[in-house]
Amino acid sequence: MKKLKFQKPTGMHDILGFDQRCFEKISDKVKEIAEFYSFNKIDTPILEDCELFNKGVGLITDIIQKEMYTLKTKGGDCLALRPEGTASVVRAYIEHGMFSYPQPVKLYYMGPFFRYERPQSGRYRQFWQFGFETIGEDHPVYDAQIIQIACGFFSDLNIAISLEINSIGDKECRPAYRRILVRYLKSKSEALCSDCKKRTKDNPLRVLDCKNQKCKEIIDGAPQIMDHLCPDCHSHFKKTLEYLDEMEVSYQLNPHLVRGLDYYTRTVFEFSTLKENEKTLALGGGGRYDKLVKNLGGKDTPAVGVSFGVERIAELMKQINYTDNKKQKNRVFLAQLGDIGKRKSLKLMGELRKHKVATSESFGKDSLKTQMTRASRIGCKVAIIIGQTEALNNSAIIKDMDTGEQKTIEIKDIVMEIKRQLKS
Ligand code: HAM
Repeated sequence: MKKLKFQKPTGMHDILGFDQRCFEKISDKVKEIAEFYSFNKIDTPILEDCELFNKGVGLITDIIQKEMYTLKTKGGDCLALRPEGTASVVRAYIEHGMFSYPQPVKLYYMGPFFRYERPQSGRYRQFWQFGFETIGEDHPVYDAQIIQIACGFFSDLNIAISLEINSIGDKECRPAYRRILVRYLKSKSEALCSDCKKRTKDNPLRVLDCKNQKCKEIIDGAPQIMDHLCPDCHSHFKKTLEYLDEMEVSYQLNPHLVRGLDYYTRTVFEFSTLKENEKTLALGGGGRYDKLVKNLGGKDTPAVGVSFGVERIAELMKQINYTDNKKQKNRVFLAQLGDIGKRKSLKLMGELRKHKVATSESFGKDSLKTQMTRASRIGCKVAIIIGQTEALNNSAIIKDMDTGEQKTIEIKDIVMEIKRQLKS
């Protein structure tokens, strides 16, 4: 096959057709949930200062070391295509002095993000995320509320999910655990993969989520952070789980869940599809990041949040044959014949729009048969036909697409009649 002159960049994709409808549905649902829980929308720039992510996400993470798209501007600034949303939201929180707002400040977002990863099914270099961030409260009830929001979202879309949760402590207890873990890993160093040998030095907690089979056996015997949490972290985690129990949210404790970003403290969690014995890509993940605001130059401010991969959710909607016919069912098809028919139809379409009646057409086609076939394919409930005779008489035929019944009425009465038929 002849190679096209231009193709989309590797790992990036066009969002079309059914995918676009899934994206829209997800976006509507996110907005509805955000409004219910009083989250305000924030859009941040696609490009940010590289240092924001170096400091926020952490230098010794895959995102910063391998995956960030960076560029130098003509003015010499180093900018990065945002690989995630939390650091940007926190930057905006500080920059707009949101610590003076009533706390917590609740913000949500949806948009494209960029990571230079090896493309595979469900993993892209440009992908969409939506996320919720609650900034300015350290109470565990907000960890549980973020999880409740996520569970509500999936339940509304009929997507079964599993939730894994862990606590990775804070600056009081994590350094001591880190030392114990490093001692253990060093004692098994011979058997670790080369990445994990390196991680033992740089970022030992990341060894815990290595997927290499040999490493996994060693990780299974590793000391667990749960046994080393300080009293405050222990109590925070216990309370979070009690809230989840109260809400009857099912979860699995995963002592090896550490997440790939460095800003987390205490609670971390991940959502995946519910498929037995099958390792699936995460649909979303998040946790508490009580030190990020301070680390990025703001006041000491606790926070918790989550974000989700939109493509991965859209793919699941495809698999469960998600359908949303409602919009199509209330659609009208406007068919016409001849020049005067077109003129009258174009004018009528303007009237229908004023009355918010969704209308499709094939103005470029002159065969009535072709137009009616299209009307059925779209799934329109009613068709309006303005043939040459009707155009001259200032009338139109209204056809019920389910029963085939039709009647002729004056054009001036069309909108009211259509609205009546769509309601019935
Ligand atoms: P993350 O786990 O890196 O967390 O990403 C969240 C979700 O984005 C993933 O679970 C996945 O569904 C999706 N995702 C990530 N990378 C890709 C990719 N290459 N292709 C397709 N989907 C992808 C964060 O980004 C944090 N900011 C979450 C957070 C919010 N923590 C606190 N607040």
